[in-house]
Amino acid sequence: MADYKKKNILVTGGAGFIGSHVVRTFVRRYPDYNIYNLDALTYAGNLENLKDIEGRDNYFFLKGDITDAAFIEKEFAEKQFDAVIHLAAESHVDRSITDPLAFAKTNILGTINLLNAFKAIWMDNWDGKLFYHVSTDEVYGSLGATGYFTEETPYDPNSPYSASKASSDHFVRAYGETYGLPYTISNCSNNYGPNQFPEKLIPLFINNIINKNPLPVYGDGNYTRDWLYVEDHAEAIDLIFHKGQKNETYNIGGFNEWKNIDLVGLLCRQMDIKLGRQEGESEKLITFVRDRPGHDLRYAIDASKIHDGLGWNPSVTFEEGLAKTIEWYFDNSEWLQHVTSGEYQKYYKTQYSQTRI
Ligand code: NAD
Ligand code: DAU
Repeated sequence: MADYKKKNILVTGGAGFIGSHVVRTFVRRYPDYNIYNLDALTYAGNLENLKDIEGRDNYFFLKGDITDAAFIEKEFAEKQFDAVIHLAAESHVDRSITDPLAFAKTNILGTINLLNAFKAIWMDNWDGKLFYHVSTDEVYGSLGATGYFTEETPYDPNSPYSASKASSDHFVRAYGETYGLPYTISNCSNNYGPNQFPEKLIPLFINNIINKNPLPVYGDGNYTRDWLYVEDHAEAIDLIFHKGQKNETYNIGGFNEWKNIDLVGLLCRQMDIKLGRQEGESEKLITFVRDRPGHDLRYAIDASKIHDGLGWNPSVTFEEGLAKTIEWYFDNSEWLQHVTSGEYQKYYKTQYSQTRI
């Protein structure tokens, strides 16, 4: 039973990669909040990610779909959530290229349903309430060889995924302007770390190296991403949630740019050591494959607003974070086996069978 004197905080998508770290951080750190994790448990959601906090008396799981307006309205009316941290989304760019509508449905309609339900209970008095929308740096589009995304960079999304996230950001801001809804938005760079589904670059390549399968590098591999360890993202979310300025946006990044091909080289070297393989063995698995359509060349975040304003900094170097990540996938081989059986095999075949160049 939830303690009615406590604040009720809703985290959506808490069974996913980043959401699970956010839920764990909040449940452990804030016994005075009731933390509700609402998740549809799609292929990307996994309650194994939260086994360690299952029995806590300030943690509650709600299985449900944010695209189901009636269900969402009912939960908000019943639980009177004081704040929402919204992470639930379709999150993989490649899947958005195959099925854009699924991304519009979850990322846009789902967000509007949450905004409407929040507005329905607090419109008369927004005091102390907050809608925190977790977004991505991909809304800014692609950088050339120089420059950084700042909070003022105009939106210019290129993939169906980033277009759907950009749209949801606009709706959050519009509800702030139109209805006075108090919000914060953060736009973060590429995350990596424990619990990431092996469709994204780093866990996919860890799994393939373990199994001596080809490492499908898109195009020439000269694409650049700014990588952040997932627990540092959860810390940033905690800071913005508690200390961020209302109705503002914060960019979050790792000050850590890597070309894909260099990152894969480092990963191969660390994996060879971990697996006791000869130096250079894993690199032989690199296979250049057909490029992702509309592939953004470079993302890089100027994180000075959150650094200067809230004192946030990443806590680990990339080499340390990557080593911790590899360690986690080795310690959790059962998790990896569960999520790579069944549907995953079908996805992998469709995504990668025709991409060799
Ligand atoms: P993820 O795909 O690992 O997890 C998404 C979660 O949302 C899953 O648990 C899934 O079950 C749930 N979900 C999906 N559709 C739902 C629906 N209709 N109703 C309820 N739950 C649903 O995603 P992630 O990588 O953890 O990303 C979380 C959020 O952070 C997303 O909004 C994403 O856009 C954003 N983001 C991700 C990254 C990154 O590098 N992964 C970087 C910046 C921002
Ligand atoms: O920048 C933040 C975004 O980072 C998040 O909003 C997204 O949810 C998250 O998925 C991530 O998007 P990317 O498309 O950058 O991540 P992904 O891991 O899919 O790819 C990283 C880079 O690696 C990208 O340049 C494409 C490349 N890549 C990816 C895969 C899966 C390959 O070369 N081969 C692959 O098999």
